[in-house]
Amino acid sequence: MSLKAKDLISAADLTKAEVDEILKESDVMLSYLTKRKSPDILKGKILATLFFEPSTRTRLSFESAMCRLGGSVIGFSGNKGTSLSKGETLKDTIKNVEKYADIIAMRNPVEGSSRLAANAAKIPVINGGDGANQHPTQALLDIFTIKQEKGLKKLNVALCGDLKYGRTVHSLIYLLSMYGMEVALVSPKSLRMPEWILEDVKGRYGTNPKMYESMQDVADWADVLYVTRIQRERFPDQNEYEKVSGSYCVDNDLLRKAKKGMIVLHPLPRVDEIDDEIDCKPCAKYFDQAFYGIAVRMALLKMLMGGKR
Ligand code: NCD
Repeated sequence: MSLKAKDLISAADLTKAEVDEILKESDVMLSYLTKRKSPDILKGKILATLFFEPSTRTRLSFESAMCRLGGSVIGFSGNKGTSLSKGETLKDTIKNVEKYADIIAMRNPVEGSSRLAANAAKIPVINGGDGANQHPTQALLDIFTIKQEKGLKKLNVALCGDLKYGRTVHSLIYLLSMYGMEVALVSPKSLRMPEWILEDVKGRYGTNPKMYESMQDVADWADVLYVTRIQRERFPDQNEYEKVSGSYCVDNDLLRKAKKGMIVLHPLPRVDEIDDEIDCKPCAKYFDQAFYGIAVRMALLKMLMGGKR
């Protein structure tokens, strides 16, 4: 099994053996990180980060990961300063960037754009989020966080919030299912997970999640409460957003009902779905989650580029 020279576009493309290997390599990278060691595994290599949509964690943690491995980074954030604003196609942009870099991490608002880029590029392409579709590296860091904090056993995981437009949950449900976890879906009716994804994970792994509308209903059941932001920017009608905005919040009241040892995860950014008063509680793992993301992205860069330890 080797991920060398492959693309990473969807969590659905990964086998369990590949995910196992990524998690194992992430463990090694985490030990470098915690010892503040920077091995020169990717010295002389260049990562291009092409971020057509806002990002804080994904872009910076990819860049940090590449620097920690001794490599360099080029790229842009927003297409205003690029030739895309003059009408250049994504395909042409990619055909040039592949001459300047050895690997691409890309985020774009259009679903399927990362697949298109991967088909055009001779170098590996990593999907850092394509519209409401997929965000596989986030799902890998989510499952790595769950492994570190709870162990990869049969856990009860509740995915909460915007399950319709949230790409992180569209990826994560594949990895949770792969590891035989029990999944519950908690969302307003209008923001339920797309039926085709539910059918796909059911067909592949037999996953058959129960649906709820309130986090209160799963508080004493969940080992992991995975909370997401309502994806305002994806709503075709802002009135529809107003109807659901502020409809759920993790607060002390909810935690009082929570199962012992439950952890709260969130891909971040949060808006109002986790109260600040939770940040100091032992269950709050969302900032650790962002830290684990560097280790996972180091592992991915190393594996896709065939770097040697
Ligand atoms: C998420 C994203 O961009 O999909 N953020 C992230 O990558 N950590 C979640 C979000 O924007 O709500």
